Amino acid sequence: MKPSELAALLRPRRPILRPSRRRVEHSYTIADLRHRARRRLPRAVFDYVDGGSEDEHTLHRNTGAFDDLVLIPRVLRDVDEVDLSTTILGSPSRLPLALAPTGFTRMTHHDGELAVARAAGRAGIPYTLSTMGTRSIERVAEAGTGPLWFQLYVWRDRAMVKDLLERARAARYDALILTVDVPVPGARERDLRNGLTIPPSLTLRTFLDGARHPHWWWNFLVRDAIKFENVSEGTSKPASVMEQIASQFDPTVDWGDVETFRGMWDGPFALKGVLSVDDAKKAADAGVTAIIVSNHGGRQLDQSPATIEVLPRIVDAVGDRVEVLFDSGIRRGRDIVTALSLGAHACLVGRAYLYGLGTAGERGVDRAIELLEHELRRAVQLVGASSLRDLDRSLVVRRDDDLRDMSSAR
Ligand code: FNR
Repeated sequence: MKPSELAALLRPRRPILRPSRRRVEHSYTIADLRHRARRRLPRAVFDYVDGGSEDEHTLHRNTGAFDDLVLIPRVLRDVDEVDLSTTILGSPSRLPLALAPTGFTRMTHHDGELAVARAAGRAGIPYTLSTMGTRSIERVAEAGTGPLWFQLYVWRDRAMVKDLLERARAARYDALILTVDVPVPGARERDLRNGLTIPPSLTLRTFLDGARHPHWWWNFLVRDAIKFENVSEGTSKPASVMEQIASQFDPTVDWGDVETFRGMWDGPFALKGVLSVDDAKKAADAGVTAIIVSNHGGRQLDQSPATIEVLPRIVDAVGDRVEVLFDSGIRRGRDIVTALSLGAHACLVGRAYLYGLGTAGERGVDRAIELLEHELRRAVQLVGASSLRDLDRSLVVRRDDDLRDMSSAR
């Protein structure tokens, strides 16, 4: 080879000097972001985000069930132009994707909910603030430039619930999501083993961890304290997540309350955490705008089905009456294609953006959304579709069932 030919082959990569940029740019999948978040966050914080309940059967099933399905692509279709835009719960969205509510987000990164709301706004997709948020309803509304939804947990103190709804309405949140799968907390055993408390408490173990994750602990100590900004703390002392939930959430909530909350909110209203056909029908009868087929990312009942397994039956039962949204287990754009093909109107993700947040704050959330968008667009094109309307059940087949078509499978 002549020196000039050799020189043409040499393409030295420009080093990226800023570590957070390097972490982001060298993450090519949500799994990469998870891997980096694991290294950067204190163990107890990473496990809080990553973990599920009890033996984590449902957590693993959520992702494993996608692997049991295959997509059969169609060829020779013009897929040059792809339109992924839609309307979710009345909110225009650039993608069939919204960011799910997650509590204690400032534990993952000090910028917390404000960073996530800004990233969602930049991407033109909805963001959902949790009742257990660590930034206030009002501050998130100021930071967010896209659609904002508020997620409600029903507190024992109903006056506080009324107050939360009034604040969300005054701050112009676009939709209300009532989460119904936490009458009591799921057993998050990683948190128990790690001794995780909210707010994190300083013990010998956390002190030793500080040496390995100094950046996290530095921010924890110098930034304003991590606390619930919308509801009163369950206990005055640091307490476990399960203790916080058990002391404050109202386990008596029933279908009568759904009607009450429906009446108190005059915009789009969704129930999050529906897994049975019977409950989906009751929700439709109660006049909700949408249901979110969700098992809370495998953090509640640890023998509940993967959401992708129950989705088709629920769509068949109520898909003509309510918007059926989907979450739990989405780690790839192609998972979104599978859920939409099985009848979901749009999807939400929780951990996918939290891994990004833990890797590099706001830029990491941008990256998580960007990766999902690129993968989604490519998967849509590769199955031979050019719009979301082209995705249907004939594309999805069960791997272990002699490649049986899902449109004939019930
Ligand atoms: C959650 N989730 C959740 N849901 C909710 O309605 N209110 C909440 O406060 C929280 N908090 C929360 C914290 C963390 C760390 C996680 C991972 C999840 C559930 C969340 O909205 C969503 O249903 C799941 O995250 C979806 O599953 P994936 O995408 O994480 O697999």
